[in-house]
Amino acid sequence: STSINLAVIPGDGIGQEVVAQGLKVLTAVLPQDVKLETREYDLGAQRWHRTGETLPDAELEALKHHDAILLGAIGDPSVPSGVLERGLLLKLRFAFDHFINLRPSKLFPNTATPLAGRPDIDFVVVREGTEGPYTGNGGSLRTGTPAEVATEVSVNTAYGVERVVRDAFERAASRPRKKLTLVHKNNVLVYAGHMWKNIFDKVGQEYPQVTTDYLHVDAATIFFVTQPERFDVIVTDNLFGDILTDLAAAVTGGIGLAASGNINPTGAFPSMFEPVHGSAPDIAGTGKADPTATILSVALLLRHLGYEEQAVRIEEAVSADLAERDGTFRSTDAIGDALAARVAG
Ligand code: IPM
Ligand code: MN
Repeated sequence: STSINLAVIPGDGIGQEVVAQGLKVLTAVLPQDVKLETREYDLGAQRWHRTGETLPDAELEALKHHDAILLGAIGDPSVPSGVLERGLLLKLRFAFDHFINLRPSKLFPNTATPLAGRPDIDFVVVREGTEGPYTGNGGSLRTGTPAEVATEVSVNTAYGVERVVRDAFERAASRPRKKLTLVHKNNVLVYAGHMWKNIFDKVGQEYPQVTTDYLHVDAATIFFVTQPERFDVIVTDNLFGDILTDLAAAVTGGIGLAASGNINPTGAFPSMFEPVHGSAPDIAGTGKADPTATILSVALLLRHLGYEEQAVRIEEAVSADLAERDGTFRSTDAIGDALAARVAG
């Protein structure tokens, strides 16, 4: 028999509530002979208020030894913007070298979206996760004065770009439509943009079966709304990927359904799975949060650990559940119960 040693970081706001439902469904879907061990980590706004810590070395070290991490949400209005984001969430992504930020978008049935009734939309954004403008490379001169100058430097290495581009080609090659779109802005960002395009073209020569396309990010936002069925796999940098995946979520059923995986495909460090949404402090504690994004992130987690059959069971349960939703209110707990019952049955 096998086991899963899972780290759980519920975090802030609705993170606590949605993670509880994710664990409920995970427990329900796992075969009897798979032993699930979980350890919860108390990280986030409350911890910071109590101790001033965001992610101490001892916990970072302990986290390394898990098979995977399930994260709820990080961020609270009582903490200065950036403290938890950089000190906890991005620190984890960087320390564990999560260079693939995988964000699938599927048009689920019966969802409130401007695209309802459109032909099947099923694409995945492969967002670079460790470079770009997220590296914290920059500074401010004469801060707060009318003469202030702030820079925010985007860092792109050939090593970092090639590994994410290669991963995206692999994913595209394994999907029926075999299409990969590079999104950047190489008409303005000529240094990084040309490097991305050159590496994309070079790696592409090894994948003649994959059809390739290039779009500037501004044009891509138009097609996300007007013609989303043109996309299969998209590869893009950290910041463009951040923005595009919120848009993707909004047009394909809402942020309550968008799942993500911060993946290190080498297995050198545990990968981390989290809903794309944030901590939503305005609805925390009300039972209004939709746990589906977290439950779909659990499916990505299972797929990553080799439990493909269980991952598919969760995704099919979500489809069936959404198809039967009739618009009447269901609490966070009730949605979790319904999905747990479906995957177990
Ligand atoms: C996301 C979030 C994070 C990001 C923030 C909270 C740092 O928006 O996961 O998309 O920008 O990556
Ligand atoms: Mn985001």
